[in-house]
Amino acid sequence: MGDVSVIGSGYVGLTTAVCLAHLGHNVVAADIDATRVELLNEGQVPMFEARMDQLLAEGLANGRLRFVSDSAQAVEQSHFHFMCLPTPQGANGEADLDALDAAMEELGDAFPTGSIVILKSTVPVGTADEVRANLLRPDVAVVSCPEFLREGTAINDFLSPDRIVVGSTNDRAATDVAALFATLDAPVLTMSNRSAEAVKYSANAFLATKLSFINSIARICEAVDADVLDVVAGMGTDNRISAKFLQPGPGWGGSCFPKDVAALSHLARSVGAPAPLLDAVLTANNTQISHVTTRIIQALGPRPVQPRIKRESRVGVWGLTFKANTSDRRDSPALEVVRRLQASGLTVQAFDPTVTEPITELPDLMIAGDPYEAAAGCDVLVILTEWEEFVLADLEKTAEVMRVPRMLDARNIFAADTSQLEGFAYSGVGR
Ligand code: UDX
Repeated sequence: MGDVSVIGSGYVGLTTAVCLAHLGHNVVAADIDATRVELLNEGQVPMFEARMDQLLAEGLANGRLRFVSDSAQAVEQSHFHFMCLPTPQGANGEADLDALDAAMEELGDAFPTGSIVILKSTVPVGTADEVRANLLRPDVAVVSCPEFLREGTAINDFLSPDRIVVGSTNDRAATDVAALFATLDAPVLTMSNRSAEAVKYSANAFLATKLSFINSIARICEAVDADVLDVVAGMGTDNRISAKFLQPGPGWGGSCFPKDVAALSHLARSVGAPAPLLDAVLTANNTQISHVTTRIIQALGPRPVQPRIKRESRVGVWGLTFKANTSDRRDSPALEVVRRLQASGLTVQAFDPTVTEPITELPDLMIAGDPYEAAAGCDVLVILTEWEEFVLADLEKTAEVMRVPRMLDARNIFAADTSQLEGFAYSGVGR
């Protein structure tokens, strides 16, 4: 089994490290954050992710996994080096490669002779070629191996992938990297580095396109009195389309889609192949966030003629993360909806199972300790994240504590069975 270093123990790096150790490799993972390294060595997981604690404990116990804060020390002992560094969105939509560039600069001389650098972070097409050119180490191969992990199911996605993409100009290195995953039951697709880099951006942009498409159809359905869920059922049974990633919502978000679609659009423009579709996908998402916000405001009824006697309208929100089963709020449409409601002068109180402290970027948002506290005294309740906890909530109790029992279910979590919603003025999205 190969000796592996993982540079960057964030979301992607940590998943890569614990899963490779689980597959039997010896893994040393590095992170510049010494506190994080200490916690990880004690078996504490710094994020909310199913099975992560179990695989971390397993790797630490059998000695196949350890964490260090010195990246050079990690790579000096390893043959394979997975680069898992953040590539955030830059000022003009482009991917910011500063963290990767700094690590490659620092580690250039530390890579053992003949070892293999593997780019796992999402990077613009051509990055591997640039990394190889700047490295000045002809003995070190640079392979692209993009990740396709979803937050919340990252471990399962790693261990049961649909495919493994290996991009390389060096056949031997590609074969060696593919061998690291030999025990997984998945096709390995080998191609050039550039094609592998393009696969990752294209896959994310396509999924985001599907979501913006169905959210647009949902808005049309609302206007023409059709039901988007029936439309999805009717469309999704066409196996060229499939019903996956066609659930309408308050808009899509997270740490990947927004930045990756923006980066691909930026790349398209910079190489003289502009892709207006990608810009429309981003615009449609913003439109959906505005649309859901407008529907909440409209649900509260017309503004009174004499504002002085108007009682303050209050909105309860269930869910703040960008989707369920993650604690991640990066680019969460829920936060954007809250921000826009507050900008309209509304008082908002929210509950999310992963949020216990006030949110720095939304200081006026009251954080409730449970779903009922968030609904208490409200004129409308909005579901912005599809947590199971909300499906299981006591809706009778919820209606009782509200000032007016109205619900806008922006995730359609109650769409299939509205029988529990008696007493509520209920509406979903796209229906
Ligand atoms: C995504 C990709 O799926 C993954 O392959 C890539 O590696 C990283 O980006 P992730 O950001 O974890 O993963 O979230 P994902 O589950 O894809 O959801 C993205 C957004 O789309 C969320 O806001 C989610 O709520 C929304 N979504 C998803 C919908 O609104 N409807 C759907 O049917 C599916």
